[in-house]
Amino acid sequence: MAATADTAYQQCLNQNCRATLAVDQTAFSCPKCGDLLDVIYNWDKLPVPKSLRDFEAKWSDRLNPLSFSGVWRFRELLPFAPPDQVVTIGEGQTLLQTADKVAQFVGLNTGKLKLQYEGMNPSGSFKDNGMTAAFTHARMVGARRVACASTGNTSAALAVYCSATPFGFKAIIFIGSGKIAYGKLAQALDHGALTIQIVGDFDDAMERVKQVADRLGIYLMNSVNPFRLEGQKTIMFRVLEASGWEPPDWIVVPGGNLGNSSAFGKAFIELKQLGLINRVPRLAVINASGAQTLDQLVTHHGLKWQGGAPEMTVANNYYGELDSKGLKASTIASAIEINRPVNLKKCLRALDFCDGVVRQVSDQEIMDAKARVGAGGLGCEPASAASVAGAKKLREEGIIAPSDTVVCILTGHQLKDPTATVAYHGTDQENFEKVLGSRGVRRAGFANRPVVVPNDLDDIIRTIALYSETANA
Ligand code: F0G
Repeated sequence: MAATADTAYQQCLNQNCRATLAVDQTAFSCPKCGDLLDVIYNWDKLPVPKSLRDFEAKWSDRLNPLSFSGVWRFRELLPFAPPDQVVTIGEGQTLLQTADKVAQFVGLNTGKLKLQYEGMNPSGSFKDNGMTAAFTHARMVGARRVACASTGNTSAALAVYCSATPFGFKAIIFIGSGKIAYGKLAQALDHGALTIQIVGDFDDAMERVKQVADRLGIYLMNSVNPFRLEGQKTIMFRVLEASGWEPPDWIVVPGGNLGNSSAFGKAFIELKQLGLINRVPRLAVINASGAQTLDQLVTHHGLKWQGGAPEMTVANNYYGELDSKGLKASTIASAIEINRPVNLKKCLRALDFCDGVVRQVSDQEIMDAKARVGAGGLGCEPASAASVAGAKKLREEGIIAPSDTVVCILTGHQLKDPTATVAYHGTDQENFEKVLGSRGVRRAGFANRPVVVPNDLDDIIRTIALYSETANA
């Protein structure tokens, strides 16, 4: 990475404003018009690789923490930081798994479905890709107190980066009360974050954390922070790497605050601009039905990027309607239980560039897909399974063909939300009703029930004989 002052800067996304800020300034929205900020590079002054294959040389340099990291081994494609400022804990050692059993469930030909398993990150979700980049920027600007609002994974990642690094970062996290899965809450507490539970949901917490960060000058780690998205671009670089640098036909990703989809779009825009890819995958962003803002706006109200001038009154009217009806987001996929996605505009840009589509899937579809993902190999949390449920829906609609190569992003680890998993598979009907039935999930079609057996050797052996033929079906 070269020096950064004249090669990277921040720029307002609003085409009528286009205010610029230096790379080492701290602002999480445009100081002039309040819109989102982008990180922009003067590529012609930077050493850009001739081919994506050049990154393979980094594998032989793995004792260098920057080359070991699955984010920073692509540092030439996110060159905003001096190398000696990088904050890394070895994130991004993730894999692209071919999942044939899940492909069958989705309706794809053998070998055509791949799952990008981001649960392998140190904090168990894709968030670490963004955190390493945002913490690097925080270090560049001398920040110490860092904050986020979260449905759980951002806060877990933030807490891990504060506790695992020696730079004196202090974590402050805002969560909606009763809104985050136990695995994630456990992480925030165990890693020593100041955990502020407010009465309200993620959208309320997000609003508050922005005010608090502004008032107290605390560094904001949500995905409105454009540096977060720089790190999350690398998920796509790793997908390409694991595919022999050949882009798949589809990338399918759950949509919550829309940071990932926005980052993926930016990654492909830049790779194309740099001549490093010829073909761009199509992007499918999948909402949960209980938090369907993007699907409503894009699929049903026709909201589009329109060359950088989307008709944002469509979104504002929709939010007004939610408020007047007192509607709050509600889904078992708590990670994406978000009605006001902060990166909406950037996601529209990504959808435009990647010929994208948006769909919503029900909690039933999410939980069934999650069970199939688990039975097919690497487990995930409910929000992640929205990608697989969405791919299945698009397959059924004929938008994805059986012969298409599809990559679904498994954004978070299975153990993040044991409550949902145990309710689905377990035999406790009351618990099923409480956790899932109350959300309209009626059947656990792919449940792998625990078998209750008397503590008797013969009974146990008989039971194993009876059940072993159907196990792992
Ligand atoms: N999947 C998981 C497991 C997540 O934790 C999130 C977001 C998403 C998908 C949605 O990603 O926001 O980039 O569209 N979780 C955030 C959090 C909001 O606070 O942990 P997105």
